[in-house]
Amino acid sequence: MMHGTDTSVPRVETESSARFAADVREGLSRTPRQIPSRYFYDPLGSALFEAICELPWYHITRAESQLLVEHRASLLGLLEPLSTVIELGPGSGQKMKRLLDAAPRRKAPLDLHLVDVSPRALDVATRTLDSLPGVRIVTHAADYTAGLVEACANRVRGGRALVVFLGSNIGNFDPPAAANFLESIRTNLSTGDALLLGTDLVKPEPDLLLAYDDPLGVTAAFNRNLLVRMNRELGANFDLGAFVHRAVWNAAESRVEMHLEATAAQRVHVPAARLDITLDAGERIWTESSYKYEPRGVARMLEAAGFDVAEQWIDAEAGFMLTLAGS
Ligand code: TRP
Repeated sequence: MMHGTDTSVPRVETESSARFAADVREGLSRTPRQIPSRYFYDPLGSALFEAICELPWYHITRAESQLLVEHRASLLGLLEPLSTVIELGPGSGQKMKRLLDAAPRRKAPLDLHLVDVSPRALDVATRTLDSLPGVRIVTHAADYTAGLVEACANRVRGGRALVVFLGSNIGNFDPPAAANFLESIRTNLSTGDALLLGTDLVKPEPDLLLAYDDPLGVTAAFNRNLLVRMNRELGANFDLGAFVHRAVWNAAESRVEMHLEATAAQRVHVPAARLDITLDAGERIWTESSYKYEPRGVARMLEAAGFDVAEQWIDAEAGFMLTLAGS
């Protein structure tokens, strides 16, 4: 299809770009200014995130994979007879592959439900996982809550279900939202079902900051890609050279915050969001929080949502934890 050559007028064509525009309008009008972190994950953002997971300074992915391999046999042993696994945000599918590779030869097939807003991510994860013997994959292109409800409505009768939520993605919710979300998982499960939750632990500030502000600048690129995306999809005129990536440890809130900081005063026009803003020099747009936990805090959070903590496994560097909790 031919389009006109006038690219100055952005086209808001789909429901999702209309929602992006509305969320940007709302978030950038707040104090402090913010943008919901779900918009990091366009194709370039997803590729940059995969690169973050390979960085020597970003330990979550490696620590979690090691813990999964080390404890998968006892973990799966505790859950027999397991008939359903539901992963919220499977990414590339590698972690689930590690977990299920060890699954004992099963008589009954296992249903594996993958929930992700991105159909692309679901394709990649399905390709990683569809060679697992005895595993039937069901995908749900939906947000976590809607996908979970759908998966639970379609689970096979008999056997237990395990919900898997890894990568310390719970830490990207603020505490009230995390509590709500865990409660909604709990209410969708039955007695005997379980949740496997990955959480990053509090560690010395320099280590935390290196993980979110790496010397190669990959995390900075991941953050600044939000500006690229708003320019492309919403017709905005963010000057990329006038923003720097900032990672800040907020000890009082126990979270690493990521911001985009304006290096000079500037006006920004976001036509698709019908928005004009003036940023002061040093003003920040808050793009992400990553909460860090103590083991007891995670247990308390799960118990408050109605779970019983069965096991907590911590890696050798005491940086990361897997918790298995029963419903
Ligand atoms: N949940 C992970 C974390 O908090 C992954 C993640 C989400 C992340 N957003 C990020 C990692 C931004 C780096 C930068 O670490």
